[in-house]
Amino acid sequence: MKDINILSIETSCDETSIAIVKNGVEVVALTILTQMDTHANFGGVVPEIASRMHAENITMVLEETLNKAKMTVEDCDAIAVTYSPGLLGSLLVGIEFAKVLAYVYNKPLIKVNHLIGHIYANKIGDNLKFPCLALVISGGHTELIKMTGDYEFEKLGETQDDAIGEAFDKVARVIGLKYPGGPNIERLASEGKDTYKLPIPVNDNTYNFSYSGLKSSVINLVNNERQRGNEIRKEDLACSFQTTAVDELKRKLELALKNTNIKNVIIAGGVSANKYLRSELATICQKYNATLDLPEFIYCTDNAAMIGAAAYPLFIKGEFADLDLNAESNSQIC
Ligand code: KG4
Ligand code: ZN
Repeated sequence: MKDINILSIETSCDETSIAIVKNGVEVVALTILTQMDTHANFGGVVPEIASRMHAENITMVLEETLNKAKMTVEDCDAIAVTYSPGLLGSLLVGIEFAKVLAYVYNKPLIKVNHLIGHIYANKIGDNLKFPCLALVISGGHTELIKMTGDYEFEKLGETQDDAIGEAFDKVARVIGLKYPGGPNIERLASEGKDTYKLPIPVNDNTYNFSYSGLKSSVINLVNNERQRGNEIRKEDLACSFQTTAVDELKRKLELALKNTNIKNVIIAGGVSANKYLRSELATICQKYNATLDLPEFIYCTDNAAMIGAAAYPLFIKGEFADLDLNAESNSQIC
């Protein structure tokens, strides 16, 4: 069969990214332009600035990607783009750009859900193995999904309040670390010990998660200690928070491994870059003789290669989008 090259575009938050992905598994070229340093000045992503920067940079990101691949848009078989979930203005820049390319070059357009993209980041280099359990852990989502085939999803559980990444970012902010908080908490935690007693989030028999109570208890603890004039041991607090947050994932994953007897596990989303989390989840999987597939670090946080990987099964099925495609700020995996 002829090779299928998909030109894929991701602009849902603060990364302008374009990739060319061959047959859903091989990254021919990838460019990621992050706006992180700009938004760090404001303590988080400023939507208006994000969309403006996408608009300023997207043509250059396309050129750079085509140059790296030594290809033209003409050489590609389809144009894929993230349409949801994300910041509306940011999504629209990518969508309008993709629609123009699809129209001008007469290529089919494929719309990809960003979270499904994170899941398919695990397809890069090696196809997904089914059935599998997918733990989606990003800045906006915390979900446990069962997959029985390509695009066959069943939601087992999800967060009842905050996402795990959101909790990392808010805790980081309260202890004075820069945005994005996740990597900075991880760095600090590696120098500390799990000495602070924090509440266990949801210790029940569902697959649901909760992070708002844990986040609030860290914020309250910091405020109380400051009022009393006590020093906070930031490394220990970061370590205690990270341990408690990851324990919640471990408990729920273990429950699912026990109840479903599924032997393949994948993790997806920005928080999956956390090394402590990766090693703790690997230990749980080992206990149940399950294999844990981890996306390469570069494919954990937002990137267009995962969008190209997720677009491939849709290309094969002939599921194409119309040129009136619009952005959706919120949508579910299933
Ligand atoms: O998937 P992503 O890039 O964007 C969303 O789709 O939300 O995830 C971003 C989230 C942020 O909350 C960030 O703090 C978190 O992923 N994150 C991490 C790490 N790297 C990124 N959290 C913990 N440890 C990390 N190493
Ligand atoms: Zn993401």
